[in-house]
Amino acid sequence: MQLKTIHFESIDSTNKYALKLIADGQCEEGLVIIADEQTAGKGHADNFWESEKGKNLTFSLVLKPFFIEPSNQFLLTQIVSVAILNFLKKRIPPEIVKIKWPNDIYVENKKIAGILIQNTIRGNSLDYSIVGVGLNANQEVFVSDVPNPVSMIYYTGEQHNPGKLLGDLFNEISTVYTNSASPHFVDSLNEFYLANLYRFNEISDYKSKGKEFKGKIIGIGEYGKLQIENREGEVIEFDFKEVEFL
Ligand code: BTN
Repeated sequence: MQLKTIHFESIDSTNKYALKLIADGQCEEGLVIIADEQTAGKGHADNFWESEKGKNLTFSLVLKPFFIEPSNQFLLTQIVSVAILNFLKKRIPPEIVKIKWPNDIYVENKKIAGILIQNTIRGNSLDYSIVGVGLNANQEVFVSDVPNPVSMIYYTGEQHNPGKLLGDLFNEISTVYTNSASPHFVDSLNEFYLANLYRFNEISDYKSKGKEFKGKIIGIGEYGKLQIENREGEVIEFDFKEVEFL
């Protein structure tokens, strides 16, 4: 996959811009929209993604994942999460970098990166996927009420050049993505995802439908659902947003 970038000093949202390019038929796989600043950066559940101008990585990568069926979209979440994880483990003590299901990247108990994937579907298959990534690199003060943000600088003690980070991260995503066309590689990807899952196999507190409970994450089910075993030994599967980590 060839990296081609469109750079903005300021834009509302790189994901939104990529969607517009796709609608206008002006997109190809490997295109990256990168911005120094987003005035309406989109997070999950319509949250605002906070990122101080010029300090971090905020970009959207356009993919055409011909080998992924719409019902298997979670694979793309895994690909991108694992790629960011690999990238960070080379720069931060590897044992403290984890994936918080489904696709937040955590260091210790803090969020260092978020991923927002938006797909367009044609007929029965995925057409384009827009992979929006926000990775905190140099920002030291966060003003919004995001619960627990952290940046690479906190662990590395040095400033990072966002342009250089983008090139390295793109290569990491490109490698995992290309390899994932092979089912054999996908098996090892699943294993690696699980082995690096935040709170895997640990008894912790969760909340679902207003009720708090203790349980441990034991696996990932069909469609990427999170499997938590409660204290009664029952395994419950949760879809995204059906369970809260306390
Ligand atoms: C999350 O809430 O964890 C997902 C955050 C995704 C933020 C990135 S920043 C680049 C891209 N453009 C957007 O508007 N959002 C994503």
